[in-house]
This record gives sequence, structure tokens and C-alpha cells, in this order.
Amino acid sequence: MSQKSNSLAGQRILLLGGTSGLGLATAKAAAAEGASVVIVSSRQSSVSEALAQLPATSEGHVADLTQEQQIQALYQKVGSFDHLIFTAGESLLIGPLMDTSIADAKKFFELRFWGMVTAVKYAIPHLKPKGSITLTGGIASLRPLPGWSIGASVLAAVEGFMRAMAVELAPIRVNMVTPGVVKTNLWSNMPEADRHAFYNNVGQAMPLQRVGEAEDLAETYLHLLRQTWATGQSVIIDGGAVLV
Ligand SMILES: NC(=O)c1ccc[n+]([C@@H]2O[C@H](COP(=O)([O-])OP(=O)(O)OC[C@H]3O[C@@H](n4cnc5c(N)ncnc54)[C@H](OP(=O)(O)O)[C@@H]3O)[C@@H](O)[C@H]2O)c1
Repeated sequence: MSQKSNSLAGQRILLLGGTSGLGLATAKAAAAEGASVVIVSSRQSSVSEALAQLPATSEGHVADLTQEQQIQALYQKVGSFDHLIFTAGESLLIGPLMDTSIADAKKFFELRFWGMVTAVKYAIPHLKPKGSITLTGGIASLRPLPGWSIGASVLAAVEGFMRAMAVELAPIRVNMVTPGVVKTNLWSNMPEADRHAFYNNVGQAMPLQRVGEAEDLAETYLHLLRQTWATGQSVIIDGGAVLV
């Protein structure tokens, strides 16, 4: 009989950007299923705070994922693993293209696109043959609002890369999660009152009447690790936002 799903018990999962938001919720959910998790982000303080919320066997490392040498050094420390999840991201660059500096627009690709590409490149020798890679997009590439030219472009670039890697790296599976608006630190550059109003307004416009929680998305990352017959896919989890 063919193998239809992987138990996560005993599997080693590397979460780049795993100290907050979607990554941390996924690390907690995977650890609860018996996986051993390794979380990475650019600041020691956030690595330490996240480790305090995970089982004592969890590992954490500091690496700035915009820096190729730091990524190479990270993999030397981490060794081999079963699954790679990339959720690193910084606050969004939103605004009309006419008012956007081209230098800022190029910089916005450094972490989410080039950091992600570099992280996947150097992960390949460390991934076990039945392993997987799960990247992160966002529904702005499918349904952008005015002001989202650069954000939508980065997310679409992630999807193209994901599909190409699914072909090139098979039988390693490569997929992505494509979230709608989720309550995480990603939105922390907004004043608190504005942020709550934004969550309410965006949530009310969705079929499911609320913005997402990080745990809603963690479930989907785990699904993509467990199943063994999907590759090259983007799974949209957005409360129905792309429909309206
Ligand atoms: N939340 C949403 O509404 C939403 C919607 C669609 C898509 N997404 C995407 O989902 C991904 C995760 O977002 P999130 O909401 O979970 O955000 P988050 O809570 O802000 O988490 C981002 C993570 O990335 C890490 N990070 C930032 N810069 C880094 C760097 N240079 N090197 C290494 N790690 C770095 C952060 O830790 P440090 O600060 O310690 O480095 C943190 O662990 C992002 O790509 C985002 O675009 C989110």
C-alpha cells in the first residue's frame, strides 16, 4: 500500500521566521504532534521569547536571512532535517507606485524573495529525501488593492519559484500557503486603534466575517507537511476574501 501521510512524530522541522506569527503557531502545533522544531529569526530576543513557549527540546538560532553567509553558517549548525518552512517577512511596503522609490521597491524583495531563494538553495543538501519545503505567499498576488504593486509582485514571484522548485527538487515536495489577513506582528507598525479598526473592517467584508488567527494557518502548514501527494500547490486560506 502506498504511503498517504507522514506522521510528524520524530520529524525535524526547520522554521525560518519561526519566532512569531504564522511560524511560531506552526512550530507550536508541530511540537504538540511530537515533531522536533528548530526556529530561526534575526533577533536573539525574539528567538529566546519563542523558545520559552516551546518544549525544552526545541532549538533556536539567530540568522539574518537577507545575508547569504549567515544562511550558509546556519545550515552548518542545524545539520539535516525533514521539512523546511519559510515564513520570514517584514512589515509591508504599500503605496501608489508613483510615490514609491525604486530603491525601496528593490529592497522589499531582499528577504521575502531573495532571502527565501537563498534559504532554499542551501537547504537542499540538508533535506531528507522524503522531505518537503513550504513557502509563504499572500492573497494580494491574486486580488491586489490599489497600492499593492510591489507587495503583489513579491508574492507572485514566490509562487513562480515554488512551482519551478516542485519540478526541479522532486521527490522533495514544494508547496506554499497563501494567507489572507491574519492577526500577527506583521501589522504592528500600525497604531493599535487603527489596527483593530483594520481587522474589523477587513473581517466584516469577508464571507467568514473575521480576519485569521495564526493557528488557522498553522493547520495548513502541517497539512502540507503530512500529506505525501501534493507538490507545486498554493493553498489559499483567507476566510473567503478572494471571492468578494
Ligand atoms: N499576517 C498576515 O496578515 C499575512 C498575510 C499574508 C501573508 N503573510 C506572510 O506570512 C509571512 C509571515 O508573516 P507573519 O504574519 O507571521 O509575520 P510576523 O509575526 O511579523 O513574523 C515574521 C517573522 O520573520 C522574522 N524575520 C523578519 N525579518 C527577518 C530577517 N531579516 N531574517 C530572519 N528572520 C526575519 C521575524 O523575526 P525577527 O524580527 O526576530 O527577525 C518573525 O519571526 C510573511 O511573509 C507575510 O508576508 C502574512
